[in-house]
Amino acid sequence: MQERIAAFNRQFETSSIEEVLNYFTTTYNGRIGFSSSFGAEDQVLTDILVQQPTMVKIFTLDTGRLPYETYDVMDKTNKKYGITIDVYTPERSDLETLYSTQGINGFYDSIENRKACCHVRKIAPLQRALRGLDVWITGLRQSQSVTRDNLELLEYDEQFQLIKLNPLARWSETEVWDYIHQNHVPYNALHDKGYPSIGCAPCTRSIAVGEDIRAGRWWWEKPEHKECGLHAKTA
Ligand code: ADX
Ligand code: SF4
Repeated sequence: MQERIAAFNRQFETSSIEEVLNYFTTTYNGRIGFSSSFGAEDQVLTDILVQQPTMVKIFTLDTGRLPYETYDVMDKTNKKYGITIDVYTPERSDLETLYSTQGINGFYDSIENRKACCHVRKIAPLQRALRGLDVWITGLRQSQSVTRDNLELLEYDEQFQLIKLNPLARWSETEVWDYIHQNHVPYNALHDKGYPSIGCAPCTRSIAVGEDIRAGRWWWEKPEHKECGLHAKTA
């Protein structure tokens, strides 16, 4: 599989994002899905994907702790593009166990608690969402974090055992925002309030000018721990 991935990376080295998405959405029709957290990168990808001749499954993981601005942009996105993005939620019994074992905001108390919460609210729903898929599209970019420096356009995801496609791997933050403004793409209102990277409300804060773009995510943890486990291979 690694050879096939390396060959894909060579094949698409100079291709446009539209060419890459066109190839994968057509070749893996019915077996390809895009996970959106409605961040700026994800909004660019949704805008491009809805223009492809073959529509992919677009889904989100609703952790139950998202900021209300994220629900607003979910709603706006569905309405603007005339689509219904699939919403995956945590299992009720897992949530009840989480609350009884670590309390309401137990994720602040230890990395173990934080990872357990991310597991129940994100990883387990993602496992369900990816079932039956061969290709998983994400909005990851290399320059988002020290943990993503080596990100490739295509990777094999050992954890979920499928091909991971990161069409914006080499895009800069400026390119993302230029696309959004030029194409009138709806975006999360928190981006204009000092939140370049947005996850769950209690685990995201705004950043000051000059701070790292992911400084507001799990801000009480060290940079090398700042992955929730969705993207284990790149951590
Ligand atoms: S995270 O691992 O730190 O939370 P980040 O917010 O940078 O990830 O988002 C990177 C990519 O992970 C997104 O472009 C999206 O593909 C996926 N992702 C992250 N959070 C979610 C979510 N709640 N629902 C769906 N996809 C998500
Ligand atoms: Fe829980 Fe925070 Fe992870 Fe969201 S980001 S799932 S609230 S620990």
